[in-house]
Amino acid sequence: MPNGKSILLIVGGGIAAYKALELVRLARRKGIAVTPILTKAGAEFVTPLSLAGLAGAKVYDDLFSLTDEVEMGHIALSRSADLVVVVPATADLIAKMANGIANDMASVTLLATDKDIVIAPAMNVRMWHHPATQRNLETLRRDGVTIVGPATGAMACGEFGPGRLVEPPELLAAIEAKLISCVPKPMPGQALAGKHVLVTSGPTHEPIDPVRYIANRSSGKQGHAIAAAAAAAGARVTLISGPTSLADPAGVTTVHVTTARQMLAATEAALPADIAIFAAAVADWRVANAADEKLKKTAGSGSGAPALALTENPDILATVAHLKAGRPACVVGFAAETEHVIANATAKFRRKGCDLLVANDVSLTGSGIAGGVFGGDANAVHLVSASGVVSWPVMGKDEVAAKLIAHLAALDSGWA
Ligand code: PMT
Repeated sequence: MPNGKSILLIVGGGIAAYKALELVRLARRKGIAVTPILTKAGAEFVTPLSLAGLAGAKVYDDLFSLTDEVEMGHIALSRSADLVVVVPATADLIAKMANGIANDMASVTLLATDKDIVIAPAMNVRMWHHPATQRNLETLRRDGVTIVGPATGAMACGEFGPGRLVEPPELLAAIEAKLISCVPKPMPGQALAGKHVLVTSGPTHEPIDPVRYIANRSSGKQGHAIAAAAAAAGARVTLISGPTSLADPAGVTTVHVTTARQMLAATEAALPADIAIFAAAVADWRVANAADEKLKKTAGSGSGAPALALTENPDILATVAHLKAGRPACVVGFAAETEHVIANATAKFRRKGCDLLVANDVSLTGSGIAGGVFGGDANAVHLVSASGVVSWPVMGKDEVAAKLIAHLAALDSGWA
């Protein structure tokens, strides 16, 4: 299951650091990507080269490296994986974490991350039992940090007791369990913190035969911008995207689909959600008799062009808006119109059963936007709801997205 997940692995400075190498090997075998961060003390026990070789990834060790900062800022690095893991978690690292000290790459990452943290302590038995260490561990437990181990046994220093790093397979099992359940933590005070927002985006492609399909001009820019804006507002976001050339927005779980029926299935699988926003341009019809093999144009056969019979696709928005059980508290549709925009959108609003309909004029000239709304970077929308119509001026699609998310967050008490 964790295949495709990733961890940031902070390697602390202790005799058990060599076991971090084995952990990297086991994790990668399970399909978990590992980005290592090596502390200065950790580098006394394992080399950056061996870590990089096993992880197949760059090792980060210097907070003030200009090259690293240009490639990926240290704050971005702290948010770049699904989970942060500290192995071995030394008494020093634990004390820094408990007290919010951030003076190197590892401690800054631990303070700046929005992800869950797993630590595997390893230290001398007296250091482990020391009241200062136990106080710090209690603080970390209260902060929600998962503490794995330590194991009890003979120590490298000749003493016996708790303080040994748990063995890598046991540690990996704890990491896998965490990866299955982990979700980014919202920033305190963010408008949609704790909410799940589902967004559909992009076109659908409906096959005619294995090489041809029916599509439309949606680029996904508007829907993807909405997903990114919802994530920026602290929501957990699932984006269900038809085929686009856009990158998956950061901090968003993106599910890629091709057809309307796949988009419906992915939408249903992603529920429950607090807010569902349907910005995708879903094909209303698909080819009923899609061919298994490429349709042939036989020269001189006189057989003419093949007849394509169309059949209706499921209406994803209407299906979700009319759910008896598990309907999102707020369902937002879009309306792509080329004439009588407000009148058509108002009729659509009633028909689809949503709480809000965002209408846009997708004719080439009607919106007043050079090049039109499809594929462009700007949009002019009208918000149709039970309380009337509100029109927004032309804005960048990012701005429309941010404003729409702020609008929905402000309505929170109305729909939640
Ligand atoms: O992707 P861009 O290039 O950025 O362009 C943005 C956009 C124009 C695609 C976007 O702003 C937009 O208008 N999206 C909705 C496009 C559309 O299909 O509108 P519609 O009026 O045909 O459908 C009405 C609503 O029903 C939409 O929310 C649509 O997602 C939904 N629908 C439609 C058909 C269907 N079978 N299932 C649906 O869920």
